Amino acid sequence: MEIFSKMPQFLSDIIEKFFGKNGGSVLGVDIGSSSIKVVQLRRQKGRAILETYGELALGPYAGSNVGQSTNLPVEKVVEALRDILAEKEVNLTTRNCGVAIPFASSLMSVIEMPAVPFKELSQMVPIEARKYVPVAISEVSLDWSVIPQDRDERDDKNAPAKTEVLLVAIHNNTIEKYSEIVTKSGLSSTFFEIEIFSTMRSILDQEVVPVMILDMGATSTKLYIIERGILRSSHTINRGGQSVTMSLSKSLGISMQEAEVMKREKGLPGEASGIGLKDVIVVTLDFIFSEANQVVLAYQKKYNKNISKVFLVGGGSALKGLEEVAKKSFQTEVVCGNPFGKVVAPAFLEDVLKTTGPEFAVAVGVALRKMQESE
Ligand SMILES: Nc1ncnc2c1ncn2[C@@H]1O[C@H](COP(=O)(O)OP(=O)(O)OP(=O)(O)O)[C@@H](O)[C@H]1O
Ligand SMILES: [Mg+2]
Repeated sequence: MEIFSKMPQFLSDIIEKFFGKNGGSVLGVDIGSSSIKVVQLRRQKGRAILETYGELALGPYAGSNVGQSTNLPVEKVVEALRDILAEKEVNLTTRNCGVAIPFASSLMSVIEMPAVPFKELSQMVPIEARKYVPVAISEVSLDWSVIPQDRDERDDKNAPAKTEVLLVAIHNNTIEKYSEIVTKSGLSSTFFEIEIFSTMRSILDQEVVPVMILDMGATSTKLYIIERGILRSSHTINRGGQSVTMSLSKSLGISMQEAEVMKREKGLPGEASGIGLKDVIVVTLDFIFSEANQVVLAYQKKYNKNISKVFLVGGGSALKGLEEVAKKSFQTEVVCGNPFGKVVAPAFLEDVLKTTGPEFAVAVGVALRKMQESE
C-alpha cells in the first residue's frame, strides 16, 4: 500500500500521552480521484488538535500509477478505505466522520430571482431550479440560500430589485453511492459535504473582499470565487497534476511512473536529458492559469470588484516552483493555502504540514465541521 504523508508514529503516541485517549476524536474523509485523504482531529479546550492524517494513492487500485486519477467502482473505493482505516502507520482510531463529495458530482449555479418575500421565494426557487438542473427535480437533493446584498448594492437605488440565490443540487444516486461506501467500509458518517465548502472552511479567514481558491487535482483544476464567506462562482478546468506528468512522459519519452517521480522530485527547476523541465511543464500551467485569469476578469467585470487574493490548494499545487509561476500569471496576491493553520500541531511538524498541507484542504475542512458538530 502506498501511504504518502502521515503523522510520525511517535508523535501520535506523544499526543495520546498528553491528551489522553481519543474519546472525542473526529475524522474528515476526502475521496479524491487520485487519492484518499483522511484527517483526524480532536477538540481540546476549544481548539482543534491534529491527531493524525494520511493519504492513500488510488491509482494502484485501478491498475495504474500513484498520482493518476481513477474512476473506481464502489467495491474498490471500499477496499481502499478499509486499507487506510486498518493501516497501523496512520493509526486512525475513530470511525466517526464526515465525507466530502466531489464538486463534479454536484450542480451549482447562482440564479437571479425577483426581490420578493422569503416565503414566496421558497415556492419559486424549486420551480426555477428546473431550468438549471438537467434531470427531474425529484432525482436530486436541492439546497439553496439567498446571497445577501452588500452595502453598495443596497444603497444603489437605481439597481433592479433582484435577489441572488445560490442553488446546489446533488443527484440522489451520488448520495446513495456515498452512503453505500460509508456503510461498507465501516465508517459512521453524519454528513456529506460538497468539497468546495470544506475547502472554504479550512482555508479562508473571514475575508470580506472577493478571493479565489484554485484547487489543482489530478485531472482537473477547480476554481471557486468567494466573497464575504459566500461562494459566488465556480468553474472546472480540464487540466491538473496528471496533465503535467503526461506532458513530461511524452516529451522525455519516459513512462508515466518515471515522469511522476521526476515531477515530484525535481519540479519546475529540474532538468532531464538536457531538457529544462520548466519548458515542458509551463505549457500546462499556462493553460490552467490563463483560463483561471479569464474567470477572474469575468467576475471583476460583472461585479466591478477585484479579486484580492488567490489561494493555491490541491496536490497539483505542491509542484516545486509552481507558486512563482502562479505569482507571475495573476495580477493579484498569490498564496499557498495552509489548511493546517487552523489546527494545533507540534511546532516541528510545521514545515512538513506546510508542504503537504495544500493536499489536505478538503479533509481538514470536513474534520473541522465534524468537530463543530460534536460540540
Ligand atoms: N509533491 C508534488 N509535486 C508535484 N505534484 C504533486 C505532488 N504531490 C502530488 N502531486 C500531484 O497532485 C495531483 C493530485 O492532487 P490531489 O491529491 O489534490 O488530487 P485529487 O484530490 O485526488 O483529485 P480531484 O480533487 O481532482 O478529485 C497528482 O497529479 C499528483 O501528481
Ligand atoms: Mg481533491
